[in-house]
Amino acid sequence: MSGEALENLSHEDRVFFPSEKFAAQANGKADLYDRAKNDRDGFWNEQAENLQWDTKWSQVLDWSDAPVSKWFVGGKLNVSVNCVDRHVAAGNGSRVAIHFEGERGDTQTITYQNLLDSVSQAANALTELGIKAGDRVAIYMPMIPEAVISMLACARIGAPHSVVFGGFSAESLRSRIEDASASLVITADGGFRKGSAFGLKVAVDEAIEDMPSVKNVLVVKRTEQEVNWNSDRDIWWDEIVSRQSTSHAPQAFDSEHPLFILYTSGTTGKPKGILHTTGGYLTQASYTHRVVFDLKPETDVYWCTADVGWITGHSYVTYGPLANGATQVIYEGTPDTPHKGRWWEIVAKYGVTILYTAPTAIRTFMKWGDEFPQAHDLSTLRLLGSVGEPINPEAWMWYREVIGASNCPIVDTWWQTETGGIMISPLPGVTGTKPGSAMGPIPGISAEILDDAGVAVGHGSGGYLVLTQPWPAMLRGIWGDMERYKETYWSRFKSQYFAGDGAKWDNDGAIWLLGRVDDVMNVSGHRISTTEVESALVSHPTVAEAAVVGANDETTGQGIVAFVILRAGSEDGPGVAQELRAHVAKEIGAIARPRQILIVAELPKTRSGKIMRRLLRDVAENRTLGDVTTLADPTIMNLISDGLNSSSTDDD
Ligand code: WT7
Repeated sequence: MSGEALENLSHEDRVFFPSEKFAAQANGKADLYDRAKNDRDGFWNEQAENLQWDTKWSQVLDWSDAPVSKWFVGGKLNVSVNCVDRHVAAGNGSRVAIHFEGERGDTQTITYQNLLDSVSQAANALTELGIKAGDRVAIYMPMIPEAVISMLACARIGAPHSVVFGGFSAESLRSRIEDASASLVITADGGFRKGSAFGLKVAVDEAIEDMPSVKNVLVVKRTEQEVNWNSDRDIWWDEIVSRQSTSHAPQAFDSEHPLFILYTSGTTGKPKGILHTTGGYLTQASYTHRVVFDLKPETDVYWCTADVGWITGHSYVTYGPLANGATQVIYEGTPDTPHKGRWWEIVAKYGVTILYTAPTAIRTFMKWGDEFPQAHDLSTLRLLGSVGEPINPEAWMWYREVIGASNCPIVDTWWQTETGGIMISPLPGVTGTKPGSAMGPIPGISAEILDDAGVAVGHGSGGYLVLTQPWPAMLRGIWGDMERYKETYWSRFKSQYFAGDGAKWDNDGAIWLLGRVDDVMNVSGHRISTTEVESALVSHPTVAEAAVVGANDETTGQGIVAFVILRAGSEDGPGVAQELRAHVAKEIGAIARPRQILIVAELPKTRSGKIMRRLLRDVAENRTLGDVTTLADPTIMNLISDGLNSSSTDDD
């Protein structure tokens, strides 16, 4: 088709097929769909057999206690053995597991043998510190190899980890440590970001003040910055880990043994501790990494740019790739340090073949200009992935053409912290892809789109995305709150998992994700609840009331816009919005800092007192207002719009 003919097609009509060459060598072939459809349990059974089990399971799936599933019932395995030991045992000890690139240009090359030694030492150190199977360990780290080593060491001894993103505040860290009652925190003095050192130990000190349940803090030396030291509690990683033996006899754990807890925002102010277990999770992480990213462990160099603080970092930096014996790149810093070509320099330096990143990053690079990627040799790339939010067709095309030289399949992968692994995505050697569509459920996964009444909508229509069958990596609950688990995911539609996303089928049966339908924002691919930001705002002494909405943002997908009513006696001055933005960053973390704060006199509410966010979104996105007739006081919107023009706003 000519370029011009392509231009005239709508995005829904454009299809890019994998080359014959790619299709012929792909790990995932078309027959996978039929096999999974005809014998779902048999299909997942086969995927689980790719792992190394100490005890074979007696049943693939037990769904009798729905909505809590058990997978590979009675099976026993050790996750770290699957990610490390078995590759060494197979003769691949000298294969590079991790090419580490620090922001300042320091590097480490870590082979699978090195990784086995380090994970064993770390496991021995945790044991010396009294950590036993079942004990929770919080990990609050920069993107350095010790973050991955810590996760694997926890898994090795059966201690569920709770990784808290290093960008979260002391307050956020505190509530997560408390909720999981972690007895150990693994951290670093700090990390490097945007050319300077930021502190982590200092936030841990603040978080666990007066929290005697935390017995020890294990500290990796990264930045060498000054830290406060409590010698009854704090231990340098170098002191305790390096003197341990490099041999550690791993124990096999039940397939349903908790592997980790990862907190994510819900529609209330309190984050949910999403619980994942062992056998099913690793089966799906490994299977999806093999077929969606088409990993060839002998030749590929894989790079997922996510931080281990998010689920993408769990499933596609730590567990999936290492279970598959991949060679991967881990980069500590930001894409523009010391220059805007840093990522592309890294791709060229290591010969990256598979790149997995987020639309927000792609749009940022588009904005910076083609000259940065074009200055580097990207010809090793053969597959590109996207995750975290809907990718707009323009960004998809740019990714394909400028980064992928028009010859790399793109996999737009839809999934969630809760799903544990990829659910909806093309298979790169099979699926004809449309720019902006995640296409369809992968083999072994079933999804539907329902209307308000719970009836499946047909092709050409939209509604609520649900998952109709249990899947191996599904969450097993919310830590400490099974009622909330049932209420959040299983009460909207009978016996179906409600994901919280809107979606539509196009006329050809491809799925287009339409964003969240609940009060959850998606900022740079990260989930933040409106309520959480509102709570942070009203915790400031000058704030009487706050309403927060996610407004369209060219780069970050959504930006946080807050409408704030000040307490009587608090003056609206030039510094107020600035101070409130800083306050939110301190309470939650920099990612939650509102893009804009509008000081208003009133908020639009229904007669029953519910804030009408829809109208606030109209204001935030400069649209004509929608229907205002259900407002208790319809004149309020005039007040807000007037106030808008005189209000102080900020932009970073
Ligand atoms: C929410 C899950 C999955 C890892 C990163 C985010 C949105 C995720 C896509 C995609 C459209 C997407 C959804 C989902 N989302 N991937 N490919 N297309 N939307 O994990 O923080 O648990 O957020 O991210 O809204 O519900 P998360």
